[in-house]
Amino acid sequence: MSRDLEGRIGVVTGAGRGIGREIARSLAADGMSLLLLARTGTEVRALAEELHGSYGGKMLPAAVDVSDPAAVQRVIAHAEQQLGTVDLLVNNAATIESREVRFWEGDAAEMWRVIETNLRGPLLMTRALLPPMVQRGHGHVVNIASRARAATATGTYTGYAVSKRALSVLTQSLVGPLTGTGVVVIDVLPGLVRTELTESMPVWTTRDDVEWDDVAATARVVTDVARGRYDAQSGAVLEAPLLEEP
Ligand SMILES: NC(=O)c1ccc[n+]([C@@H]2O[C@H](COP(=O)([O-])OP(=O)(O)OC[C@H]3O[C@@H](n4cnc5c(N)ncnc54)[C@H](OP(=O)(O)O)[C@@H]3O)[C@@H](O)[C@H]2O)c1
Repeated sequence: MSRDLEGRIGVVTGAGRGIGREIARSLAADGMSLLLLARTGTEVRALAEELHGSYGGKMLPAAVDVSDPAAVQRVIAHAEQQLGTVDLLVNNAATIESREVRFWEGDAAEMWRVIETNLRGPLLMTRALLPPMVQRGHGHVVNIASRARAATATGTYTGYAVSKRALSVLTQSLVGPLTGTGVVVIDVLPGLVRTELTESMPVWTTRDDVEWDDVAATARVVTDVARGRYDAQSGAVLEAPLLEEP
């Protein structure tokens, strides 16, 4: 097993379950120390204990809402103190509307909360962590993007679709300014993975012909981004299930 990322520091948002947990596991297995964020403290604390036990690195769990600016500032300062300068940020935390209804039948307040988590969260995290990366001339930012196929197929989940499209615009808007800084920003698409998020969506759960993708592909691609495999492709959109293992 490779330990290419030994001594490196990563931050994974939404690490408590689903895709984020598998990304964290893969990074920890490769030697990274990690800040593990989600609102549910019990989940990130249990993961931190498990990863430290299995792979040894320093694991810092924190119950934080990524859309809360003060909480983000506090936790990043704490992590830099405890772990050191961050090499990798994975903006993975996201949520989706609880009902699969058309825009005009939905709850505008809920849509806004979805946008706040899925867009404001990455914006705050990236704004907090980019300056030291740029200063050091090294770093990776991964945004877990989505084709939001459910929204396209059903005409629903508007807040989710808007937030994910905007997140990819954030990625693209950083490519130019980051050119020559040594910091790479990349979108990773997980395909369709069975998680609590997709389990809450009738468009997937009421069909028996859905082909689920393996979460391991996303975890592997994010780990490869951290290793520098895609450094020549800043701004790329990497569709994890379609990429060959090196
Ligand atoms: N599953 C798929 O097929 C699929 C496809 C395309 C893209 N994606 C993307 O993949 C990422 C992970 O999705 P998933 O399917 O693994 O979802 P999930 O199983 O629902 O996990 C989401 C994680 O994000 C955390 N989270 C949610 N809101 C948060 C907030 N405000 N602050 C901090 N953490 C928060 C959750 O923990 P708490 O609730 O405890 O905070 C949880 O740990 C998302 O960006 C999603 O859009 C997923």
